[in-house]
Amino acid sequence: MAFEPRIVGFLCNWCSYTGADLAGTSRIKYAPNVRVIRVMCTARIEPTFVLKALSEGADGALICGCHPGDCHYVEGNYKTMRRFAALKRVLRTYGIEEERVRLEWVSASEGARFAEIVNDMTERTRKLGPSRVKVQRAADTAAR
Ligand code: FES
Repeated sequence: MAFEPRIVGFLCNWCSYTGADLAGTSRIKYAPNVRVIRVMCTARIEPTFVLKALSEGADGALICGCHPGDCHYVEGNYKTMRRFAALKRVLRTYGIEEERVRLEWVSASEGARFAEIVNDMTERTRKLGPSRVKVQRAADTAAR
């Protein structure tokens, strides 16, 4: 069976979730591989959320928020940028490809951009293959 990546998408309520909604209402076709979780701001996304998603079977995680300067909580997305850098360091420590996580800015009017990002991330994650964590878990389960 062909590998289909499962990607968890954390979208901020004010910009990116609305952008994703616009992609839908504009009937823009894009890959169905992202499962969306809506948060009020990207600053709400603790790195542990992403690590938990990856440890429980996600092949990648996409974080989308308001463009810098547009965050509805003033500087939430600046904090996200710093956390994201820390998250990538943690992934490197565990030997997980950092390309499995992505941070993008998508405004409420950028439905087409959201669709492009989802398509691109799906394709890149497909090329990476299943996450090592997922493969290891499947092997552990089979060995029991
Ligand atoms: S409200 Fe969108 S990133 Fe903060």
